[in-house]
Amino acid sequence: MAAQTSPALTAHGLSKHFASLVVFEDVSLQLRAGEVLGVVGPNGAGKSTLLSVLTGTVRRDSGRVLLGSEDVSGHSAPDRCRHGLARTYQVPRPFHGMSVFENALVAARFGGRRRGSAGEQLAWQAVVRAGLEQQSERRAGELGLLDRKRLELAKALATDPSVLLLDEIAGGLTDPEVEQVVGIVRGLRDDGVAVLWIEHIVHALTSVVDRLLCLAGGRVLREGSPEAVLQDAAVRRVYLGSTADALESAA
Ligand SMILES: Nc1ncnc2c1ncn2[C@@H]1O[C@H](COP(=O)(O)OP(=O)(O)OP(=O)(O)O)[C@@H](O)[C@H]1O
Ligand SMILES: [Mg+2]
Repeated sequence: MAAQTSPALTAHGLSKHFASLVVFEDVSLQLRAGEVLGVVGPNGAGKSTLLSVLTGTVRRDSGRVLLGSEDVSGHSAPDRCRHGLARTYQVPRPFHGMSVFENALVAARFGGRRRGSAGEQLAWQAVVRAGLEQQSERRAGELGLLDRKRLELAKALATDPSVLLLDEIAGGLTDPEVEQVVGIVRGLRDDGVAVLWIEHIVHALTSVVDRLLCLAGGRVLREGSPEAVLQDAAVRRVYLGSTADALESAA
């Protein structure tokens, strides 16, 4: 049972500002192996910045990040990746001139630390899992939106993560495409990967997450079961005018 396993990722009191802009203060969360935590919040709430602080590409002002029981707060982003922490980017960031498979191979070699045929095997598994086997020889720069999103996922999976942070991986996709992404996330959860998924498509989140966290006004506004968070008056207020319809249909 996910609730009885030890936390795969722990954030304690994270704070981040850019010059005079306080993005968030004192944000804490826990994520267990085989658990999916959904993160929602208005545009500009700091969701992507939170992922960057967790992965170490953006420096935190204060707070701690633990992977398992190890404090990685002072570790570089590549080092955290080698400790099993992977992410996707809201705006896909492939090596445009390289093929889909080569992109995954770079991730397997440098993030997953697999050499030779072990790296190729891990990269190929990630490409297949992301549903890109038919596109494996295509240059990343030629891919359409769905396949670019899939490649983000393949690159992250090719590092063999125990904790996977997804940033709007389903944004801009059609409903059947979103369903495919949900299926992939379910499979990862069943394999014991801890998944944090930022998404504005609330019905996609509610079909797979165990818990939901709403980040707004620079803090964790509400965290709990998807039903409790979506019915919370303050959560509904901060979404009014943006995703109110999605909340209505998901609640
Ligand atoms: N490198 C940066 N320098 C200065 N300000 C930044 C930087 N990165 C993000 N911000 C600001 O921090 C705030 C949070 O941005 P962030 O991208 O984390 O929000 P978000 O919740 O992911 O929004 P969205 O739902 O639109 O993706 C915004 O006001 C943004 O303009
Ligand atoms: Mg964002």
